[in-house]
Amino acid sequence: MVKSFNYYQPTRIIFGVGRRKELGIWAKRFGKKVLVVVDPNVEKFLSQQYQEMLDSLHSEGIETIVFDHVIPNPTLDSIQEGAEVAKREKVDFVIGIGGGSSIDTAKAIAVAATHEGSAWDYLYFKKEPTEKTLPIIGVPTTAGTGTQTSRVSVLTNTEEKCKSAIASDNIICKVAIVDPELTLTVPPAVTASTGFDVFTHCFESYINVNNQPYVDMLALEAIGIVIKYLRKAYDNPGDLGARTKMAWADTLAGCCLANVGTTIPHALGQAIGGHFPHVSHGQSLAVVYPAFLDYTVDWAIERFAKVARMFNPELEKVSDKEAAYALKQEIVSFLKSINLYYTMEDFGIKKEDVKDLVKHAIEFPDNRVNPRVPDEKDLEELYLKSFRD
Ligand SMILES: NC(=O)c1ccc[n+]([C@@H]2O[C@H](COP(=O)([O-])OP(=O)(O)OC[C@H]3O[C@@H](n4cnc5c(N)ncnc54)[C@H](O)[C@@H]3O)[C@@H](O)[C@H]2O)c1
Ligand SMILES: [Fe+2]
Repeated sequence: MVKSFNYYQPTRIIFGVGRRKELGIWAKRFGKKVLVVVDPNVEKFLSQQYQEMLDSLHSEGIETIVFDHVIPNPTLDSIQEGAEVAKREKVDFVIGIGGGSSIDTAKAIAVAATHEGSAWDYLYFKKEPTEKTLPIIGVPTTAGTGTQTSRVSVLTNTEEKCKSAIASDNIICKVAIVDPELTLTVPPAVTASTGFDVFTHCFESYINVNNQPYVDMLALEAIGIVIKYLRKAYDNPGDLGARTKMAWADTLAGCCLANVGTTIPHALGQAIGGHFPHVSHGQSLAVVYPAFLDYTVDWAIERFAKVARMFNPELEKVSDKEAAYALKQEIVSFLKSINLYYTMEDFGIKKEDVKDLVKHAIEFPDNRVNPRVPDEKDLEELYLKSFRD
């Protein structure tokens, strides 16, 4: 029997090599003046492609105001600064060009520029942003966070050392221009950490207690792609075929996030990112994954086994339980192959920091949708098991 489920994904997805040049055509329906929120590295490494996008907007008569003070793991301060520009310039809509940090900044600016207070007042457990939110277009240059198709914007409040998120249908991108050529300049370390993020969005949605058949289909497709193509993109950054596959997997993963979502690793990882902003999102996930897999395996044998067999078809010959238990080793080997295997010490995190991390991590609803629901003691154990000794 097919489970009942909801599926909602209203983004117009414009996917394919070179499609950045259509930005103006898809943007013109949203108005005549736009705030372009762009990653400074995009201006630097993709200057020609970036200029093509600006030209495409100008040729449709759209005036562009550029905001390029995007910070990796975007902070509330940078968002407020961008929102002031958006208000002063009275822009009609916002375009985010860059990695998750730029698109999430664009999303949060679209909220802050149209609502009372700051973006922080619209976190998922506070007030929901309304339909007044400016329309958002996402142009990802990493693969990725899935933010071009997700309903989330992740932001950090530096004062409170807290990383949290706005989650609302009103911040889903109206249009996502996914041009894999824009990811060719992503350095290997970022390719690895963002590519593993894609895997986690799919895997966690797949084992989530709210899993559903539509998302299962997307998640398994994207997991298969990551297994086959992430290493290729990592080893050979100019491999457009592998980059295209990863851009597709990333976009599917965003749809998984929008309709099911992540579990314990994202709670643990966001807390790490809030306290230690030098740790990238992908690294913060990779470091807790082995402990999380051990903790959850007995509660999700069939689904763990299915994914383990995607990594290693030889596991078809063994029982579900044996295959499920083999998943941890498969993922550890995979992380090692892309130099993303870490323990907490590698980031300068100390055991004394764990109590503060737990206080933050326990607040995330992600924990409650894991097949095995943790309490504070469990989260503490998961962090402690992520140290070398
Ligand atoms: N909104 C969501 O659904 C969602 C989901 C997962 C993660 N996130 C958040 O997204 C943020 C991380 O985004 P990210 O992982 O894409 O990294 P990022 O946007 O921070 O970019 C990482 C680095 O890569 C550089 N970069 C990006 N594109 C490049 C390119 N084409 N060439 C060269 N350099 C390039 C950036 O300048 C930066 O230094 C975090 O804040 C994370 O928590 C959001
Ligand atoms: Fe993520």
